Amino acid sequence: MSLNTTSDIEIIKAATSKIDQVDFEKLTFGSVFTDHMLVCDYRNGAWEKPVIKPYEPFVLDPSAKVFHYGQAIFEGMKAYKTEDDSVWIFRPEENYLRMNKSAVRMCMPELPESVFIDGLKELIKLDEAWVKKGKGNTLYLRPFMIAIGSGVIAQPSTQYRFCVIMSPARAYYSGEVKVLIADYYSRAANGGIGAAKAAGNYSGQFYPTQLAHNAGFQQIIWTDDATHTKLEECGTMNVFFRINDTLYTAPTSDRILDGVTRKSLIDLAKRENINIEIRPVLVDELVQAAKDGSLKEIFGAGTAAVVSPIAGFQYKDEYFELPKLEKSYAADLKEKLTNIQYKLADDTFGWTVKI
Ligand code: COI
Repeated sequence: MSLNTTSDIEIIKAATSKIDQVDFEKLTFGSVFTDHMLVCDYRNGAWEKPVIKPYEPFVLDPSAKVFHYGQAIFEGMKAYKTEDDSVWIFRPEENYLRMNKSAVRMCMPELPESVFIDGLKELIKLDEAWVKKGKGNTLYLRPFMIAIGSGVIAQPSTQYRFCVIMSPARAYYSGEVKVLIADYYSRAANGGIGAAKAAGNYSGQFYPTQLAHNAGFQQIIWTDDATHTKLEECGTMNVFFRINDTLYTAPTSDRILDGVTRKSLIDLAKRENINIEIRPVLVDELVQAAKDGSLKEIFGAGTAAVVSPIAGFQYKDEYFELPKLEKSYAADLKEKLTNIQYKLADDTFGWTVKI
């Protein structure tokens, strides 16, 4: 190990790298982590100096509030390497702002930009060899914050840990994705935490998704909790529907995450003169469109999966197969977005940030 300090971040380097043990051709999403992580603790009402150190387990008190009350939030981002070996991240400011929005909703302290953005950049620089070139190769970045204060009294912690870990990644889903439209379980409710990237929003999906898996579906399209008539998200992603040549996606709300991929696809669709409507999309109109043949595509959008086309959906007892299109909006928008991310197309929006 060697010890360095930049002005604001302490850096403790790993003595050796694990990189040679990794088969970058066979990566299961989120299962391998780079040599280093960033850790920054919050105590006595202030964030301490961030440290970049070798990736290692945490030691926490068993009564830490994260274990009992799930005070935990996270972000998902990616780094990309171009042919000239430069490394880029995508719209980091959006993730930083959303992290703090989640923190406020979960009664956790907001992070300074210097810890989130500068910390992330330093960490990526150190583990740059883990970002592989070529479209499809990415380094998935996972910033998260947990409540580490001890005591099982049900009130917000006074101590927190912000951490960033990084995992080389290729595809999130493999194979066809068939989905079930939720008519009983819900992901989020009005006034709840659905708009925050809170850990509980994801664990709450595990059981209904497992039931869906057992019935032969990979994901659930979540509907509004009150009436189950509006289509809101798909698994861990935002969702888009194409009826004839118009794209539809639900507006963000208390129940819907303000996804970075979602907002980027909306801007790209507008630039491409694709007709796009941001308004509640009803289960009934989807079923009607599937029946009359005007439903052309459904796709999920999120950082991990980017754009994930849906092969078909089931609502109550009826299954609807989607057409296999030669020229789909999903494929076209994914291509345009990833070309910007990999610097293969002009970034006229100014979304990419060099490390
Ligand atoms: C992402 O797309 O980055 C997410 O946060 C979803 C996650 C569950 C993999």
